[in-house]
Amino acid sequence: MPTIHWREQAIEAPTGQSALDALLNAGVVIPNACRAGACQSCLVRASAGELPPQAQAGLRDDQRARGEVLACRLPVNDGLHLEPAGPLSIAGELILTRRVLPTDSVAVLHLLPPPGLRPLAGQLLHLIREDGLSRPYSVASLPDDTLIELHVRQVPGGRMSTTLCDTAPIGARFGVRGPFGDCTLRDGEQDRPLLLVGVGTGLAPMLGLARDAYARGWRAPVTLIQAGLNEAALYQPEALTALTAAWPGLDWRRVVLQAPASDGVEVGDVVEAAKTSYAAAPSARVYLCGDAAVVNRLRRALFLAGASLAALHADPFTPTA
Ligand SMILES: Cc1cc2nc3c(=O)[nH]c(=O)nc-3n(C[C@H](O)[C@H](O)[C@H](O)COP(=O)(O)OP(=O)(O)OC[C@H]3O[C@@H](n4cnc5c(N)ncnc54)[C@H](O)[C@@H]3O)c2cc1C
Ligand code: FES
Repeated sequence: MPTIHWREQAIEAPTGQSALDALLNAGVVIPNACRAGACQSCLVRASAGELPPQAQAGLRDDQRARGEVLACRLPVNDGLHLEPAGPLSIAGELILTRRVLPTDSVAVLHLLPPPGLRPLAGQLLHLIREDGLSRPYSVASLPDDTLIELHVRQVPGGRMSTTLCDTAPIGARFGVRGPFGDCTLRDGEQDRPLLLVGVGTGLAPMLGLARDAYARGWRAPVTLIQAGLNEAALYQPEALTALTAAWPGLDWRRVVLQAPASDGVEVGDVVEAAKTSYAAAPSARVYLCGDAAVVNRLRRALFLAGASLAALHADPFTPTA
């Protein structure tokens, strides 16, 4: 049976088990949510041991270089030495200052961050409720904005999403960890096209990236595809209205699976829509966020269409296991 180390503690674990399960079984407190490599809750650092590529997928180059790794995607192996990736404590508190409900099931939230928390557009924050329940959400605002903007879909029976969309009063406080994730713009790429695809509330990080590109004076074409089941699901937050008014050059496509649809809204499969936009700009850096099943289909299709893994960034909104 392989032996791994958490700081000074030696832990025996069966071959094939994930480091996350081995640590949890040994009583180590490691935050976790999706258990599928999507949310980065379980980020730890390895000072020794074998790190397969899937255990570092989606991490930035500097994180990989530091040996940071996702414990849920890391099979135990002899000689693995793990430690916290950084401060595991809560970075501070977010205060809910405003909630707008553009549809029955989506809330656009504005939250006052603690000093020093300035997430990039497209990154993730883990919100922590009073009882310890924690869920990741993607950032639609820019680091210099006074308030952090998140878009939350109320999942039927969903604990955190119901709190955020419905029951939490203005002024409610949430613990926060983060920011995490690499769904962010790269410096110095203003001449490279962008293809941004947001499914459902996956619009939030895509809107954030489009706002960021506008603020940086992007010169190459930028396409933002907003996808939903039907037209009623295509909510339009104030920031998107403002951005499309200010930046006529932004190609904003709206795609729904189910008819009927107004003029300007396409009916069809978002995967086919994304493939046509990609074919028109095959050098684009591609960002995909939202419903996990659709994002995973998009990722596969665009990879097969020629997008390299280095140019494909995806945050599937995998539910917490
Ligand atoms: C990387 C990442 C980024 C995310 N960013 C966002 C974001 O910006 N906006 C956003 O709205 N959500 C986002 N999510 C999803 C979010 O973290 C929660 O999973 C979601 O809000 C549901 O949490 P809950 O506590 O309300 O539901 P839970 O109480 O955990 O679940 C209640 C029930 O609903 C089911 N369920 C949960 N989620 C879904 C779903 N999506 N589809 C179908 N059934 C579901 C569960 O399996 C369970 O049976 C993100 C997830 C990940 C991994
Ligand atoms: S990435 Fe490991 S629990 Fe989500």
